[in-house]
Amino acid sequence: ERAWRDLIEVSRLEKGDVTPVSLGTRDLAVYDGAGGITVSHARCTHGAANLCDGYFDGRRIECPLHQGLFDARSGAALASPARRPLRMIQARVHDGMVQVLL
Ligand code: FES
Repeated sequence: ERAWRDLIEVSRLEKGDVTPVSLGTRDLAVYDGAGGITVSHARCTHGAANLCDGYFDGRRIECPLHQGLFDARSGAALASPARRPLRMIQARVHDGMVQVLL
């Protein structure tokens, strides 16, 4: 069953940037963006790139491999060759800890 799980302390996030975090076998990307903290699967939906190696401008994450672009809040694919949306994970901040619903 799904439950809120501790992911990383807010104080350990890269300020205004994207931070890679592993949880079990999952590789996740935590975005400290203009609109708050969001979490997605780290793998690009186009290829095998890890989005944590990409460029985050506070709202959008650019894939390091082919420059596909995703909205870091909604997961929407914004620029080719990215077409399928990013898989976002429901997240919240609780007592200074980023938690995800998994
Ligand atoms: Fe990310 Fe191609 S692997 S855009």
